[in-house]
Amino acid sequence: MGTVIGVVNQKGGVGKTTTTVNLGAAMAERGKRVLLIDMDPQANLSTHLGCGGPEGTVSEESEDITEPTEQVPESVYDVLKGNKTIKEVLIERSDNLHVVPSSLFLSAADLELGGVVGRELILKRALSKVRDEYDVIIIDCPPSLGLLSLNVLAAVDQVIIPVQSEYLALHGVRQLLDTIDQVRTVYNPELVVGGVLICLHDNRKRLARAVADTIRAYFGDLVFEQVIRTNVSLAEAPANGQTIFEYAPRSSGAEDYAALVEEILNG
Ligand SMILES: Nc1ncnc2c1ncn2[C@@H]1O[C@H](COP(=O)(O)OP(=O)(O)O)[C@@H](O)[C@H]1O
Ligand SMILES: [Mg+2]
Repeated sequence: MGTVIGVVNQKGGVGKTTTTVNLGAAMAERGKRVLLIDMDPQANLSTHLGCGGPEGTVSEESEDITEPTEQVPESVYDVLKGNKTIKEVLIERSDNLHVVPSSLFLSAADLELGGVVGRELILKRALSKVRDEYDVIIIDCPPSLGLLSLNVLAAVDQVIIPVQSEYLALHGVRQLLDTIDQVRTVYNPELVVGGVLICLHDNRKRLARAVADTIRAYFGDLVFEQVIRTNVSLAEAPANGQTIFEYAPRSSGAEDYAALVEEILNG
């Protein structure tokens, strides 16, 4: 039976989406059947993989409000609302890399699901129907600890916590660990922290090395040995709708995520 992994940190810009995409892509390269789920209303993962994106957003260049497309693409929002199954909304990006896109509508889910009994368990129930069909399911979280992230924490076997080796890296981590503890107690007794991943790491910077040491001192063995170095190709790939293995297979970013998968699969 497949593993379900949540990539969680309520801080933005720490490498959650980049990790979800490229960890998933690296697993798919290894022949695993992979499902990625975008649970962030910003839909960065969906856009990154060329699988839809937020509708009706204000484009940055113009003041125009982009008209919502006539046929609004289906997304994980429809799944949470109970109108669609995961199978009905997923996009087969390749044979063994499937994606459940997000949409801006997801930002309303917190409010809309407020009165639903068992609202923290909606994703878990929806996933139970497809779990067997994948070797690994990886879920990208929004930068908050609201209902969407709680749904992820309740649904997964393990979380990967990306942290950036910068000033205030551990800021908010206590709150995150407390939330994980609470979800473990109430909804998901088997939930474990699979690993802490140091992202956007620049080993040439003394501060980055010092912060990485602090992170390792704080989390001990939970920290992956493999770090993800700062690599411009990782930042460029999304604009091309590509994973790092498609965009720059010989980059350090591709090397780091491939090595991370080795570490995860071989312990
Ligand atoms: N290792 C890296 N090297 C260079 N840029 C990166 C790296 N990881 C992420 N980025 C870039 O940093 C920004 C934040 O990363 P992202 O994965 O979107 O974080 P989050 O999902 O936690 O907000 C994005 O522009 C992304 O392309
Ligand atoms: Mg993100």
